[in-house]
This record gives sequence, structure tokens and C-alpha cells, in this order.
Amino acid sequence: MALFIENDGKLFRLVTSRTEYQMSVDRHGVLRHLWYGQKVGVPMDYLQEGQDVGFSGSPYDAGNDRAYSLDTAAQECPANGTGDYRISAIKANGGIDLRFLKYSVVKETVTIPGLPAAFGDAETLEITLIDDSAKIAVTLRYGVFEDLDLITRSAEIANCGDAEITLEKAASLSLDLPAGDWEWIHFPGRHTMERQPNRASLFEGIQESESLRGTSSHQQNPAFILCEKNCTETKGLCIGGTLLYSGIFQTAIEKNQLEQVRITMGIHPDLFRWTLRAGEHFYTPQAAMSLSMDGFEKLSHNFHRFIREHVTRGKFSDAPRPVLLNSWEAAYFDFDEEKLLSIAKEAATLGVELFVLDDGWFGRRNDDSSSLGDWFVNRDKLPHGLDGLAKSLNALGLKMGLWFEPECISEESELYRKHPDWVIAPKKRKPVRGRYQLVLDLSRKEVENYLFDTMAAILSSANIAYVKWDMNRSLCDFNDGEQPHRYILGLYSLLERLTATFPDVLFEGCSGGGGRFDAGMLYYTPQIWCSDDTDAVERTKIQFGTSFFYPASSMGSHVSAVPNHQTGRVTPLETRGVVATAGCLGYELDPRTLSEDEKNIVRAQIKRYKSLEPLIHGGKYYRLTDPTKKNVAAWMFTDGKHVLAQGVQFHTMPNTLRQTLRLRGLEAKAHYRVEETGQILTGSALMCGGLLLHRAWGDFNAFEILLTKEP
Ligand code: DGJ
Repeated sequence: MALFIENDGKLFRLVTSRTEYQMSVDRHGVLRHLWYGQKVGVPMDYLQEGQDVGFSGSPYDAGNDRAYSLDTAAQECPANGTGDYRISAIKANGGIDLRFLKYSVVKETVTIPGLPAAFGDAETLEITLIDDSAKIAVTLRYGVFEDLDLITRSAEIANCGDAEITLEKAASLSLDLPAGDWEWIHFPGRHTMERQPNRASLFEGIQESESLRGTSSHQQNPAFILCEKNCTETKGLCIGGTLLYSGIFQTAIEKNQLEQVRITMGIHPDLFRWTLRAGEHFYTPQAAMSLSMDGFEKLSHNFHRFIREHVTRGKFSDAPRPVLLNSWEAAYFDFDEEKLLSIAKEAATLGVELFVLDDGWFGRRNDDSSSLGDWFVNRDKLPHGLDGLAKSLNALGLKMGLWFEPECISEESELYRKHPDWVIAPKKRKPVRGRYQLVLDLSRKEVENYLFDTMAAILSSANIAYVKWDMNRSLCDFNDGEQPHRYILGLYSLLERLTATFPDVLFEGCSGGGGRFDAGMLYYTPQIWCSDDTDAVERTKIQFGTSFFYPASSMGSHVSAVPNHQTGRVTPLETRGVVATAGCLGYELDPRTLSEDEKNIVRAQIKRYKSLEPLIHGGKYYRLTDPTKKNVAAWMFTDGKHVLAQGVQFHTMPNTLRQTLRLRGLEAKAHYRVEETGQILTGSALMCGGLLLHRAWGDFNAFEILLTKEP
């Protein structure tokens, strides 16, 4: 049991394997936050006694108790207009003063209308607060995933009066933490360099990471870590949070005058105004938070399992993923059926299982300036249509995958000529173009229906086993404060309908690489193309940052040609293979250009990957170095029996000693056999002394060491 309700239904303790979250209803009916930390087992309300702080007023019903102020009290759902000058979780015109109404316990996880929600074995606590005069009720939902030390949060906001209410902010998560030396890690980036961890001390005031781009974005990620100053991979307390949401978001952290810390995370309030009419409800996206007393590694393990076991769905969630060859960097827009089949024929001899036809197969698309929206096959390029191509690929022993960018439209397209009004555009100005294209207004049901019908017809017309769902621009030009969220609701509805109708199709998310890499998309697409940067060296950094919240099984990762198309860097094929193996392996090159030796290397890579995939996707992942700071990128996976240590030594130097690599997560007393040398070492030796790496010869040398626990 994870939920303990005591003190006549006024004290709530959410207890997981190692953590405890407490809240209570105080003497004025305010839902107070008491504790988030290690298991304590006793009420921690004594810590909440306030004292008079200048210019921090008291609610009227507190009488002359100047020590009672919502400006200093830790709360679960702080709202505007209550004398709490810190960031609010919920804001409505006129202010909201929420007091406790009731609670209930649901013995399972709950769904959220139109939005992703974690499923599986967990209990849910629902607490309803009400403002009797503003006629707003807020139901907070806490899902407790005991084994994972993880709690989900979401809110349902109801208008229980007759007058219209405008919501100005509706965060998914709000957490008050006591004063302390907190540091904040967030994940800024850019196109081709996503999710680079940035760690900083909190300053007094508000610090944020956010996206107003309509998608979760390359530039920031809806994920945060708050940690103690000395927190490392293996030591110290840290709290992580992420959103199951793919649209505009804000993570705001305030350190106030008393050094108390509040964090809120949810839909970005700057582009959010939601009208709630009498009887209407608004549902926030779900957030997930976890706490580790043993550093970032444990936190990541909690989130990896959470995403694999409670977020990604369908038959591919847990199944081996096909090794694919994607046509983009092999051919870009320059292909016809003959060329594709000759690439595919070569790919099949290497062990590739699925051939993905990327951009350019439809309308009159020969570059990126036209045809998005015209989802009919270009017969000049593919005279036998998609069905003909699929049959030829199948005859080679390959499955077929297809690229779409459903959400966008080119002005140079039949669809645009027919429905210019379907795009997101300001009423009085022209819209902003991105990569020559505009965005379809998915908040309109007829647009969603058109995309569903069109895509369903294509997916039924040929034997298509995989869809790459791309999105290549930031959104802009919203006309009101409901459109950004309604767009995401339309996107999710479309994804839900298509994934339910085609359960045997593997959907991979993509947004110019990793521009929409979030737990919301992972609910529909169990893997996401991690980045448009396929350079093996840069990829170690991108996959490192991505790994804080997202498992290896979610990261699409390909071996590409050299010189690399993004950086011009030349790295050994073995290195590209090792880096791409640490995700969902694919190839992004023309195999006809490989030498016989290189083809043999690729054959061996694929064979080895197939045997290691259960360990890579199902095992625990450890970051052994920080490649943004060190000359070596190293990581490992273990399932308890096998250990796979991989990495890249970036720049070689003469006359050095062999480097050691300390492993983690092993059994100290167990013996492990090194596959390559037959050497047997104890877990304690491997974790304390480490493995000896070979001296690197040439830059960007990779290593891959497999160990097996002796019986
Ligand atoms: C961006 C994607 O990330 C690439 O892999 C490729 O699909 C292009 N779009 C195609 O336009």
C-alpha cells in the first residue's frame, strides 16, 4: 500500500519504496505541502509553523494571526490573489482562494481526456479544493508508483458556477521546497545539438526554461532536476520532473526572500488563456516527478523504467525494434524506384530489416519548397506506387517504412490551393514561414479528419510497417490562448486514432531530429529520432543529455557516412556503430558506397546489436563519464548478468598510460568474465579499480567491452 490517510482525513502520506511525500489540510483548510524526501513515517507538519514576516499578509479568516501567511506557507496548489506573491500554479481572472473540500482514493491509474497519462499498477489520490466564491473547484490527482519512487500529478479545474471564468495559468506540477543550497539542471540545446545539461545555483528571483514554439522544442526540454549542491551521479538528493506533453511549456523556479524554493511546470501561461463556461472542466497535462537519495543515476533509472513500463504503449514498447536503413542521408530528394531498390538490395545483404523511404515520395516534392499536404505518390519517381515498392522491398526480405510530415503544408500544394484557410495564420497579417512551410491548424476537427483519412488510406494501400512522423518548424501566429493547447489535443487525437487503427505499424517521432523529444510523444511513438546530427562524437553528447530522463529504447540512432553531413568529421565505422548501438540502431547512408571490408563490419555490427538489444533496451543504463567535459565518452548497460561497457576516446595523445574505466551497478563479490580476453575480475575490482582501456590509436576510437557474470 502506498497511500496513508490519517488524522481524520487531513493528513496524506504518499509512500514509495524509498521516499515519502506528505501534505495536510491546515486549520484554515489550505492544502499544505509538508515533506518530499526520504521515508520518515511520521507527520512533518511541525516544520510548517510560520512566523511573522514583514509585508507578508494573512488571509482574512486567519484573524490577527500574523504568523499565518500564504506568502510563506508551503502549499500544494498555490493560486493568485491570496497574498502569496510567489509564482502561482493556477491563475484565474479575479484570483482563486482554494480550500479543502474532499478526497478519494482510486485503486488504479486514471486516464486524462485527450491527453497522455501513465498507466499500470499504481494508486491514485484525488484531493478536491474549492473556492466557494469564485466557484472554481480543482481536483489534484497524485498517482503513486511505489517501486519507482515516482509520483504523477495532474489537475482538473471545474467551473461550478454560472459565470464564465478565464484561466490564465494551469500548471501540472507545483512543488515547494525548504530553503537550501539547491541547484537546478535543465536541458537547453538547438537544432542538431539537443538536450545539453546545464547546472546552476539558484539565484533569488525566478529562473525558467520554456518553449513558446508550439512544440516542446530543440531549445529546451520539459524536464528538470533540482539537486543538492554536492549531488553527483551516485550520491546526494535530487528531484526530477518531466511533463507528458509536447507543446508549449514553462518550468519556473522561484527562490524567494526567505530562500524558499517553488517550482511549477506545465503549459506555458504566456500563450494560454482558457475560457471555462458553466459546468466545463479543464484538464492539465500530467507531470511525473521522482526523488533519489543516491544521485542522478537512480533518478534516471526511475524515469527510464517509468517511460518503458508506464508511458510507451503498443506491441513495440517492449519488443525488439527493426534495424532500419533510412533513405534521407543516402539520397535526400534525389531518387527513383530503381535507385531505392538498388540501395535496398545492398542493405538487405547487410542484415538491415526495414527500409525507410524518407522525404520526397509524394506530390511534386523534389526539394523542400513544395507538396507538403499532397500525400499521394509521385509516379514519376515510383511508377509502381507505394504498393509496388513495398512488394519489391518485401521480396528482398525487407519491411517498408514511410516518412510523413502530417502537420505541415506547403503553399505550393494542391491542398493549400483547396484549403488556404486550414493553416494557422494571424487574422490580419501573413503567417511566419519556416522551411518554406506553414502549419495546419490541428485544433480544427476537419483538418484532423482529413489527415486521418489520408494517412489511413496510404497505410492501408501498401504493406507499410513503420511511419516516421516528422515536424520541421516551430509554430507561430496563434490567434488566441486556446489554440496552442487545442493544436496538441488535435495532434494527440490524430496519433491516437492512427496508432489504434494500425497497431502493427511502428511509429517513430521526429521533429527535425529531437525537437519534440518528450514523454507526451513517447506515449504514441515508442522511439524518436534523437537528433539530425549523426556525427558520432556529437551524438555521444546528445545521447548523454537525453539519457537523464529518456531510455536508450526511445532514442533513434543511426550510423551515417563520412565525412559526416553535419560536421564534416571523419570517424571510424566501428565508432559510429558503437554510438548508434546505444539506442535503436539504424543506418543513414548509401550502402553501395561501402567497401567489402566496411560491409563486413556493418554485418557484424547488426548481428551483434541483435544479440545485445535486450541488454541495451531492457538493462540499466549508467553514465560513466560526462563527454561534454572529458576526453572520453563512456556508458554501460547491465541486466544483472551481462555488462556492456561502450564509449569513445576522442583525441588521442602519445606516451600516456592506459586509461581506467570504473564500472557501476555490479555485484561486488561476483566474478565477471571479459568476453574479449577471458580475464576474470570481481565486481569490486571493476567498480573500484576499473577496466583497463586499450591505448587509443588515432582520434575517435571506440571501445565495446562485454562481460558476463560467472555462474
Ligand atoms: C528532418 C528529419 O530530422 C530528417 O531526418 C529528414 O527526415 C528530413 N526532415 C526530411 O525533410
